[in-house]
Amino acid sequence: MNEKISREQGDNNQSSEREAYYESLPDETKYWLDEDAKYFLHQALSTPVMNVLSKTEGAFLYDLSGNSFLDLHGNGVHNAGFSNQKIIETAISQLNQHLSFTPRRYTNIPVIKLAKKLIEITPQQLTRVSFCPGGSEAIEMAVMIAKQITGRWKTISYWDSYHGNGFQSSTLGGEEHFTVGYGPGVPGGFHIEFPNYYRNPWNYTDEEAIDNEYLRQLELILLRNPDIAAIIAEPISATPVVPSKYYWNRIREICDRYGIFLIFDEIIEGLGRTGKMFACEHYITPDILVLGKSLGGGILPLAGIVAKEKHNVLQHRSVGHFTHEKNPLSAAVGLATIEYIEENELVQNSASLGEYLMDQLQQLKKDFKLVGNIAGKGLHIGIDLVKDQKTKERADVEAEKIMYACLKEGIAFKIIEGNIITMRPSLVINKKDCDFIVEVLRKSISKISQ
Ligand SMILES: Cc1ncc(COP(=O)(O)O)c(C=O)c1O
Repeated sequence: MNEKISREQGDNNQSSEREAYYESLPDETKYWLDEDAKYFLHQALSTPVMNVLSKTEGAFLYDLSGNSFLDLHGNGVHNAGFSNQKIIETAISQLNQHLSFTPRRYTNIPVIKLAKKLIEITPQQLTRVSFCPGGSEAIEMAVMIAKQITGRWKTISYWDSYHGNGFQSSTLGGEEHFTVGYGPGVPGGFHIEFPNYYRNPWNYTDEEAIDNEYLRQLELILLRNPDIAAIIAEPISATPVVPSKYYWNRIREICDRYGIFLIFDEIIEGLGRTGKMFACEHYITPDILVLGKSLGGGILPLAGIVAKEKHNVLQHRSVGHFTHEKNPLSAAVGLATIEYIEENELVQNSASLGEYLMDQLQQLKKDFKLVGNIAGKGLHIGIDLVKDQKTKERADVEAEKIMYACLKEGIAFKIIEGNIITMRPSLVINKKDCDFIVEVLRKSISKISQ
């Protein structure tokens, strides 16, 4: 067993805690887990898998034994809930219309309606859409457009970020799992640190002073590299750290000054996650907004970009040449998802329950030394667990134990950077679900604290 604790996207799936969890599962589940391990290519973060699911519904996962887990991860696809009946019915109805695919050079009404809808709900300046099957591809498309239009070839992105598993997208990401072992990736990829107010290396407390230090890293690169095509970031980091308005205003100014594209990856944060329809609405409008995951309603892969009118100048190039660029089934599902989010006021739910949950979690911070920091926006919240409040040493071993203790009590989540509990439940949850989350966390943290 590899006991090295990952500081990256996910928790360690090869630890003794994981082995003990496997041993605790019923024989039938073990059988299917072994079968899975036999047939799939093994890879970090995905193998071995944790459990076998029989059903995913609403905000919950169900395993073969019928145990339910309130899922605070959902791979980001479950904003409108798993197995959402309205979305499923839309998909079935679309299939029954015998329009399951549209070859290139043709279009269809569902895809036009989805494009129109996205233009209506994204910030005013974003008026041009292109679709593809997955988030990694959407990121590639966005960067390709920035490079083509600027005629430049370098990018700036953030350490510890994740933007996908393609060559360009993994070059943008800042993690070892995705970048080591295959040579240089796409050349010209610079990385800077994402602002972090709790863990800033200067121990400053003033947000603007912290932002200025982080911005200095960017200015240093820009002074020496006139050929930067794009800055790519999630507006709020996955951990999550919520940057100040000042930070993104300054980046917007810098991009405008140097003619650099600002690309916001809202593959996780779009569609209500942060308490606004799009996270950029807390800040500024990017040049390209990238969407994915929940756009496919938790049933289909669907991603895309929304760009500015002035960037519709690549008629002579192919930057979104995907087989499924105008898939009517995915598009019908995407539209039904957005309509469901709107009709059920899930963005407002995310904002108000996010606030409620944050308040409740602050009490945990008062009660347990292990809880170092709580940050987030809407239903995108992280709990940074520390061994010592002063040194902020990461409580990675404890975090893993808490994760398995919570799992036993019916709450599933992912740990990032070894010690940060990340909480991104479906936006269909209610206040009772929030209370359940806090109760289980309290019980588990208390148990591990002893
Ligand atoms: C922020 C972010 N960007 C991009 C991606 C890549 O999306 P996909 O897995 O659909 O290729 C992910 C997936 O986890 C993501 O979280």
